Amino acid sequence: MSAAEVPLEAQREVIGVVGVGWVGLVTAACFASRGHDVWAMDVDATKVESLSRGRLTIHEPGLPELVAEHAERLHFTTSMEVLANARLLFCCVDTPPTYSGDADLSRVRSVVDQLSGDSEQALVMKSTVPSGTGQSIRRDLPSLAYVSCPEFLKEGSAVDDFLNPDRVVIGADTGDEWAADAVAAIYEPLGGELVRTDVASAEMIKLASNAFLATKISFINEIANVCEEVGADVTEVARGMGLDQRIGRSFLNAGIGYGGSCFPKDVSALKQLAGNSGYHFQLLNSVIEVNELQKRRVIGKLTKHLGSLVGKRIALLGLAFKPNTDDMREASSLVLSARLQGEGASVAAYDPVAHEGAAGLLPSIELASSAEAALQGADAAILVTEWPEFADLDWASLAGAMSRPLILDGRNFLDPEALRAAGFSYEGIGRGSTGRARD
Ligand code: UGA
Repeated sequence: MSAAEVPLEAQREVIGVVGVGWVGLVTAACFASRGHDVWAMDVDATKVESLSRGRLTIHEPGLPELVAEHAERLHFTTSMEVLANARLLFCCVDTPPTYSGDADLSRVRSVVDQLSGDSEQALVMKSTVPSGTGQSIRRDLPSLAYVSCPEFLKEGSAVDDFLNPDRVVIGADTGDEWAADAVAAIYEPLGGELVRTDVASAEMIKLASNAFLATKISFINEIANVCEEVGADVTEVARGMGLDQRIGRSFLNAGIGYGGSCFPKDVSALKQLAGNSGYHFQLLNSVIEVNELQKRRVIGKLTKHLGSLVGKRIALLGLAFKPNTDDMREASSLVLSARLQGEGASVAAYDPVAHEGAAGLLPSIELASSAEAALQGADAAILVTEWPEFADLDWASLAGAMSRPLILDGRNFLDPEALRAAGFSYEGIGRGSTGRARD
């Protein structure tokens, strides 16, 4: 029986996953949790070895439990051949930026190079790739079915996002409908609208979505900067704007810039893709520039309060690019630490989970064992990552432990009134002089 004739109703698939990074591991574990038999392959033998023993290499809420619970249907391997039985092969390798800002497709290419082009197998692309990638893979391996199925999960809530998607985008071109149907069949039970489209459009949906969200953040960050000039509070502005259903409240939190492995890379990749295709994407240049400047603005705020930073001890609360993850990729803390040290300050930092990753990237800062230890004797604190536990610190006693009770809240996360009552000078992002607690 050919793949096209396999009945689709409620069948359990043998699924192959190539690349067990964030997206790959979550994909593998979530499909296993839905009863599918999953074979997950990675070239990193150490990672495969620890995953086979149930040890996870990333911090992601709910994932260790899911992997342990469905271990009998979740197999990790370094061998591509083992995946030959999988009708659907999900490609989840990373596509980091190259020096030029284009997406580096070398890992995707090396996966494709190992495929035989079996007409009963489909490559399902979850890696974020520029529009046109599917078409060129299809050209090289004409008998292989190809489906673009971009992933929209967020780190920190990845399992929940995967199992409860807003929408699932499934792009396939003429001839590959059987593969698109098979992908649709395994996603349908999760709910969320299935968006069936062509490959190029599916690829664009992913890049455009991330670029739009990044644009929303840079927009509200610029509004915040204007709020500081005119004495308005950006959290109030965002609340009022967000109630307009055409705008929506999400991704309107002003702060010290977006980071992570996706927004910086994908905005740049879309800008380059447009440029390479002959179109100058002017807006994205500004989105990127605003984000870079936003990370640095906090230095000016510090010097306004402290004068020269030479010899000052500055405490960073949080290092990861956002809470509930240990991911340090493109974290604002990296730029901030470098700038602070460049100004002659010493940096002490505390993050609940990111110290291991941070140690290699920030070798010359003090990694404190607690928020209290980082704040001890500090001339100022900068809240970099909105870890929930920072809201529950005993701020009144911490005010006494610091050399100077000054807090710059880079995520508008803390309650300004409570902090002021505890004896702090409080400054947020775009909050004028009053500032209310974030929604
Ligand atoms: C992002 C997208 O949200 C996912 O839909 C997408 O699947 C993923 O990229 C990807 O392409 O793989 P992620 O990078 O995990 O997910 O994290 P987000 O929660 O989107 O946050 C990204 C950055 O934006 C963080 O640094 C966060 O602090 C910042 N941010 C977010 C703001 O500064 N303000 C906001 O209002 C929201």
